Amino acid sequence: MASLNDIRATFLNYFKAQGHAVVDSSPLVPRNDPTLMFANSGMVQFKNLFTGVETRDYTRATTAQKCVRAGGKHNDLDNVGYTARHHTFFEMLGNFSFGDYFKSDAIPFAWDMVTKELGINADKLLVTVYHTDDEAAEIWKKVAGMSDDRIIRIATDDNFWMMGPTGPCGPSSEIFYDHGDHIWGGPPGSPEEDGDRFVEIWNLVFMQYEQHEDGSRTDLPNQSIDTGMGLERVAALLQGTNDNYATDLMRSLIEASANLTGVAPDVEGKSVHHRVIADHLRSTSFLIADGVMPSNEGRGYVLRRIMRRAMRHAHQLGVDEPLMHRLVPNLIGQMGVAYPELGQAQSLIEETLRSEETRFRQTLDRGLGLLDDELAKLPDGVTLPGETAFKLYDTYGFPLDLTQDALREKGREVDVASFDAAMEAQKAKARAAWSGSGEAKDAAIWFDLAEQHGPTEFLGYDTETAEGQILALVCDGAAIDTVKTGESVTVIVNQTPFYAESGGQVGDTGTLKTETGQATITDTIKTAGLFLHIAQVTDGALTPGTGAELRIDHDRRTMIRANHSATHLLHEALRVRLGDHVAQRGSLNAPDRLRFDFSHGAALSGADLSAVEAEVNAYIRQNSTVETRIMTPDDARAIGAQALFGEKYGDEVRVVSMGQAATGKGTDGQTYSLELCGGTHVRQTGDIGLFVSLGDSASSAGVRRFEALTGEAARRYLAEQDQRLAQVASAVKAPVADVVPRVQALLDERKAMQAELAQLRRDLALSSGDQPQPEGREVGGVTLIAQILSGVTGKDLPSLIDAHKSRLGSGAVLLIADADGKAAVAAGVTEDLTGRISAVDLVKAAVVELGGKGGGGRPDMAQGGGRDAANADAAIKAAETLLETSA
Ligand code: ALA
Repeated sequence: MASLNDIRATFLNYFKAQGHAVVDSSPLVPRNDPTLMFANSGMVQFKNLFTGVETRDYTRATTAQKCVRAGGKHNDLDNVGYTARHHTFFEMLGNFSFGDYFKSDAIPFAWDMVTKELGINADKLLVTVYHTDDEAAEIWKKVAGMSDDRIIRIATDDNFWMMGPTGPCGPSSEIFYDHGDHIWGGPPGSPEEDGDRFVEIWNLVFMQYEQHEDGSRTDLPNQSIDTGMGLERVAALLQGTNDNYATDLMRSLIEASANLTGVAPDVEGKSVHHRVIADHLRSTSFLIADGVMPSNEGRGYVLRRIMRRAMRHAHQLGVDEPLMHRLVPNLIGQMGVAYPELGQAQSLIEETLRSEETRFRQTLDRGLGLLDDELAKLPDGVTLPGETAFKLYDTYGFPLDLTQDALREKGREVDVASFDAAMEAQKAKARAAWSGSGEAKDAAIWFDLAEQHGPTEFLGYDTETAEGQILALVCDGAAIDTVKTGESVTVIVNQTPFYAESGGQVGDTGTLKTETGQATITDTIKTAGLFLHIAQVTDGALTPGTGAELRIDHDRRTMIRANHSATHLLHEALRVRLGDHVAQRGSLNAPDRLRFDFSHGAALSGADLSAVEAEVNAYIRQNSTVETRIMTPDDARAIGAQALFGEKYGDEVRVVSMGQAATGKGTDGQTYSLELCGGTHVRQTGDIGLFVSLGDSASSAGVRRFEALTGEAARRYLAEQDQRLAQVASAVKAPVADVVPRVQALLDERKAMQAELAQLRRDLALSSGDQPQPEGREVGGVTLIAQILSGVTGKDLPSLIDAHKSRLGSGAVLLIADADGKAAVAAGVTEDLTGRISAVDLVKAAVVELGGKGGGGRPDMAQGGGRDAANADAAIKAAETLLETSA
């Protein structure tokens, strides 16, 4: 029996032998298409090859592509569980030609594959072609020898394939398998075509056109081929069944579900539950592995709807404990080899499913009870009022399709129009609330846009480049239709890889490119759930409604990530070193540095700083994987996650963990750092590279600020320090290792020389050597020695005064010391003259000129000072005048 894994390998190997490049499946979240919610077929990742925008080094490719059809144009969610062939997740096998071969090769390849490689009985096959496509019909006739009645012409969109509202498209030809008349159903185009008897297994699309926004269609530059074969359907027929859920892989998941629930797989009325669980397990696990997290918006909400739908079905099987996460190992056993991303994300998938199911269970029972009560009140066949469905949505977290699914089992429906009206009324209430607040006035445009388009979806946890749809261009508070080179504008897109400033992490910068223009994004901020890309148009023009390639500055974001993750490690290292009172008070994660403000009363000692630095670096070298999970704030706190005190958190938060510690936090009790955080982080702590402390300083009362560098900035900083040290070593002429004792020796030497110099200056001023002594002059009948000295200080003056006085015998002395522009002044008067003139008066007279105040002492010796030694001559003059007038 050919297993799904065998069939996948057969297909890829066959086309590889025909010169096709085997290309990996793209992620489920399309990076290159802003209009699609999920990859819904194999051609999505090649869209730009068909339109000629991009070329690669191959023109033929083959893939096994992960697809999700839930939400968006192709949505199969409602049918899953109730038909033999619908899935939310499935694998599409495809071969592609980008301007290489066309119909006349694609059809023989397909026929060969189906009838020879897979050995499907040709008599059981029939095909469709677009009603005007005579060429395809002729080729089928020739290649497969089919009679006209088995080549069915279809005039509807069923045979004209489009990826979405825009993009490459073309007429198609489908291969059908007839499971036999024991199953109800008719051939394509017949009134019974929806039955399970005739099943489409392969679609060959002859890509010829591109569908545009305005509805027009143009020719593609080259005729191309896009094909899609449903792996599960082919596996079913090769395994002798028409039921995809009876194939090896799906059966194994169903049996695992049966084992865990104790409800046999095929019990009447119960098998639908197992099928839903098996299908939804696949889509939810693959979506989580590709970075989608449950939320109330966009893709995250589709994921949540699928998860909750599965959880209701698990509930119908009577299980009281969360079930889905326990099935993950089985799925990985089945598909982990072909899709290694599943195994890599195993714990994230399990944790996300477990926590969603745990939470949803708390309201599921009550919601279902309410539903039963309401139904009991209604006469048979009456639709459920939309208000009830809205209450289930708003209060109990029941997505509308979950309620519809629950009613389907009872043959009832929801009044969708009144559900929509209730939803609209709630939005109007929210609008009234914000329009009343003053602050919201300026921001009205953002609230209007948010209301119109919903919040921006952030893709930047997983990708640095993505396509987004330009929803609006805003300039000076008003939406505008176009913006040209040189102009500034704020761009709103539906999805973006740009991180908008929050939680201390700065906004991303980068570029935006459309078919008609380019812009530089200089910052990204967030308001009303919208990401505002602050842009400057550098080329051409931008207009709303077009797709744009958004690319963040990779190097800058890499540095920001390292700084942000290092901040988490720093936070924990500070708590370990200083105590649990350390709490975050603010932070900045910029590309070039990080800053962390935290509550702590005193400066950190040198030992604290180096211990913290060493600990952060030890966790960097540990190189553990950084993990992110989604949980409620309460659950996060329960496992010890750090949250900002007083901060309002939503229903769910991202929790980032890093580092392994013998005694730590988290469910395993071994997580070093665990924080609520919406920022972007490194994959492994080793990516931070290096952490260097720049020290701490006071930020405000009781708050310290720690600054640090990481990665290349840290290395550069250390290199600069090193270079300075080398310069010092060379200046002091010592090897680097001896710089410290050498500098210390130089400082000691300098101190000794200063002491010696001071002594010499004093000696010199006393002029014990050959220096001529200053002569006294007769002023007002008194012999006066007046002198301006440099190189001595105020302290030296009294002894000099005494020396002059004894030499004079009778007279007055005035000395002014010029110490770097400042003046010290001292005066002395011999005992015999103190009755006539006081040294204090002489000093006071001099000090006034020297820009000082006062001065004091005794009549025979007084001292003072001033800031203006340059006026020393005037000071002497003032003293002389005093002597003359007091004569
Ligand atoms: N893109 C085509 C499909 O999905 C092959 O059916």
